[in-house]
Amino acid sequence: MAVVHRRNPSQLLGAAARVREKAWAPYSRFRVGAAVLGGGRIFAACNVENVSFPLSVCAERNAVAAAVAAGVTRIEAVAVVGGGGRPTPPCGGCRQVLAEFCGPDAVVVYANPRGETVETTLGALLPHAFGAADFKGAAASTRTTPALPDRPGSEARRRKSRTIGR
Ligand code: THU
Repeated sequence: MAVVHRRNPSQLLGAAARVREKAWAPYSRFRVGAAVLGGGRIFAACNVENVSFPLSVCAERNAVAAAVAAGVTRIEAVAVVGGGGRPTPPCGGCRQVLAEFCGPDAVVVYANPRGETVETTLGALLPHAFGAADFKGAAASTRTTPALPDRPGSEARRRKSRTIGR
């Protein structure tokens, strides 16, 4: 097997184009294939739509799930092939999901089925990404469990229980 390199995405693009044929997109008819490279292996998946539309899952997210299920949590490069017009970039939600497992330098190449490609990085597609460091930083600075929003009447109930407790 040829060594897959993040700077040579032709194999990744090939995998994304092949798996796109399997897309389940009877509602949008917008077929997408995605392939991610991690640990020297390629994980490819397509979009899978549902008649309950919001349950549809993008190709990129399914490819990430396949990598994680195989124990691969460091993704170095991503390829997306979709649509029919201009090359299909990953949607905003998928950029955030990719950022969980990719550094900002991860190569992202996206294409249309005619083979027109755009090569960029995840950092360029999702600048100022919200990441684990932000979350951990916030948790450390508050030091306490975040307060849950009050339910109606809960302040009155608290006052009553304080009175009873006295
Ligand atoms: N889609 C993807 O699979 N990836 C993207 O990044 C953009 C959108 C899918 C979701 C839906 O099945 C169809 O394309 C139309 O939005």
